[in-house]
Amino acid sequence: MYCFRKVTDDLYWVGANDRRLAMFEGVYSVPRGVSYNSYLLHDEKTVLFDTVDAAVAEVFFENVEKALDGRHLDYLIVHHMEPDHSATLTGLVRRYPDVKIVCNQKTAGMMKQFFSFDVDSMTQIVKEGETFCSGKHTMTFLNAPMVHWPEVMMTYDETNKALFTADAFGTFGALNGALFADEVDFERDYLDEARRYYANIVGKYGTQVLTVLKKVSSKDVAFLCPLHGFVWREKLDWYVDKYMHWASYKPEKKGVVIAYASVYHHTENAAECLAVRLREKGIPTVMFDVSVTPASEVVAAVFEYSHLVLASTTYNAGIFVQMENFLSDLVAHNIQNRTAAVIENGSWALSSGKLMKEQLGKCKNVTVLEETLSIKSALKEEQLVQLDAMAEALAAGFTAAE
Ligand code: FEO
Repeated sequence: MYCFRKVTDDLYWVGANDRRLAMFEGVYSVPRGVSYNSYLLHDEKTVLFDTVDAAVAEVFFENVEKALDGRHLDYLIVHHMEPDHSATLTGLVRRYPDVKIVCNQKTAGMMKQFFSFDVDSMTQIVKEGETFCSGKHTMTFLNAPMVHWPEVMMTYDETNKALFTADAFGTFGALNGALFADEVDFERDYLDEARRYYANIVGKYGTQVLTVLKKVSSKDVAFLCPLHGFVWREKLDWYVDKYMHWASYKPEKKGVVIAYASVYHHTENAAECLAVRLREKGIPTVMFDVSVTPASEVVAAVFEYSHLVLASTTYNAGIFVQMENFLSDLVAHNIQNRTAAVIENGSWALSSGKLMKEQLGKCKNVTVLEETLSIKSALKEEQLVQLDAMAEALAAGFTAAE
């Protein structure tokens, strides 16, 4: 049965939620589901903005048909060709064979890669800055390359001041009947998932995100309409400010993320002893066992906080496998501007510390403290002074920055 909502009097959300998906993109757990957003505009011409993932095709097509209310579908604007937004495009073309697909050249090229319908005859190619009129509504197209794929485009509708942002400003999590971010306690219930979504999906492309934010900063935006998560009509500045922090790799908060990998709890014990010392100095800490917590959550926490401590046992003469996976993920997501410290463990051939520092060395403006700790099997009483020194050095950074 159809299930859609009005964004404005003439704009409808016709997307759908998926709560059965275990791993988004095969990588990121989505325990609270995910929404795939599509929007339908009723003007002199009807315009659909993007389609949805194949998993929710049935309700999506019911939504489109019902929201069209007997009208013909004139245009489909495609912002992003990743299949979570385009897998139902062929189904749409079959149902509405006269629809004109509005997209940029790169999108048309990708459409040919994914599909076998006659893309050239169905598309109207648009360029950055070009305008499109559907009747009362006039829209402008803005390219947003690498937010999150190279073909990504946004559309600004100057009539209702809606910005269709593709993956930007999205979040993990199903909508659960809500459509607008102000209908939920976003900061309490969704901000962590929005950060995890940003850091893992778009985090690598901060420069490109900043470029797009600059482009749209001159626009008067009343609605942010992303492809996942809620529509924003209040507190847009607050959410844009979050994006400014994430995209410029500036921490949102002062605090220390302690990520550890420990086979027999000895490395974990050292991490706990450090956390106690930091808390005693009034420094917020969050701890993750990287063997238990998915890398996407730890990556997101590192985007949130100012400091990072990595503690890992040595394993097969390298970094413990789960720490190695997390760390390579973190480096791949381009983390910058952090202060870090390293704790290593090894019963016979210590090497994880050196290797973790090498990984961190690939990151821009990540300072690795000289204060370090090397454990041979288990932390000893006489080594507590080294943890004291590490806690001091981390705390000094806090004082200096405040
Ligand atoms: Fe939600 Fe990049 O797709």
